Amino acid sequence: MKALILSGGKGTRLRPLTYTGAKQLVPVANKPILWYGIESIVAAGITDIGIIISPETGEEIQQLTGNGDRFGAKITYILQDQPLGLAHAVKIAQPFLEDSPFIMYLGDNLIQDNLSPFLTKFKQQHLDALILLRTVSNPTAFGVAKVDEKGRVLQLLEKPKHPPSNLALVGVYFFSNSIHKAIASIQPSARGELEITDAIQELIDSQKTVESVQLQGWWLDTGKKDDLLEANRIILDTNLQISVGGEIDEKSQIIGRVNVNKGSKIINSTVRGPVIIGENCHIENSFIGPYTSVGDGVTLIDADIEHSVLLKDAKILEIHQRIVDSLIGRRAKVEIAPQRPKALRFMVGDDSQIELV
Ligand code: G1P
Repeated sequence: MKALILSGGKGTRLRPLTYTGAKQLVPVANKPILWYGIESIVAAGITDIGIIISPETGEEIQQLTGNGDRFGAKITYILQDQPLGLAHAVKIAQPFLEDSPFIMYLGDNLIQDNLSPFLTKFKQQHLDALILLRTVSNPTAFGVAKVDEKGRVLQLLEKPKHPPSNLALVGVYFFSNSIHKAIASIQPSARGELEITDAIQELIDSQKTVESVQLQGWWLDTGKKDDLLEANRIILDTNLQISVGGEIDEKSQIIGRVNVNKGSKIINSTVRGPVIIGENCHIENSFIGPYTSVGDGVTLIDADIEHSVLLKDAKILEIHQRIVDSLIGRRAKVEIAPQRPKALRFMVGDDSQIELV
């Protein structure tokens, strides 16, 4: 059994962060989203992992993620020159996959469920494909499945205008090598991509066994800001280890589940968990409230923030209103003059959003 993680794409819904970095590397609780997928695949006993990368962000992904040693896995990077679809990614990965069955995992998806029971079902029942489904309130935004009462998949449609159910296809799939033949016989969709949904439909049409399981735990497709904040909240709620490193002065208060890493200084501040603070941060005269992830090298001075994600080297200075529900990019600086400002001065990148609420 092998694994194929798709980590290409342009990440348009997370712009501007994704102009300069891969969406799969945006951190959730200070760890790249992609790494959660790798860890969960390795936890299911699969260590031969291919990662599809794009020319735009592939190098950054390779540099940060490495050859797999840190996960106890062997990672092979496979370049997809153009974003021609999920099934196209499988096609170009065939020399890596050979005839092996595999898990395909979309690198911006996070699921709570452990993969092992699905893998066992896939193997024991000798399935051609096993897909994971989750009920959603907006099925038109996903691949959608129609299944019978036993979970056998009858029909799949990619982003249908009139969805036959509210069961969305989660970005984790199990395939036998029969998927390659199915991919060879499909045509690009209206959006010009070879859709994996169409390839699975092709398996169904040629009487192959395609089954589904409905996820019980949460599933997050972190392609958008609110989903990312939600993923951050859930991971901090469920996975955060208490550990207080760094230097914390006697005027500061650390309350609840907080993880502070080495080299960080907390001066005259309150941190109320769950909160993670990376390495070499400077936090002074500030309040950091629940569900906040503070990346390495962040500076917060006279700041008040909660339910937010701050990326590496961001700075927040002298903002006396509370900042909430925010995603602040790498090296971004947010500052308000100490006196009540008479004017607001911005240098804001394309696709940024500023809301003075
Ligand atoms: C892709 C799949 C879709 C699936 C979704 C899950 O959509 O095409 O079937 O439901 O991932 O994240 P995309 O994110 O490429 O729009």
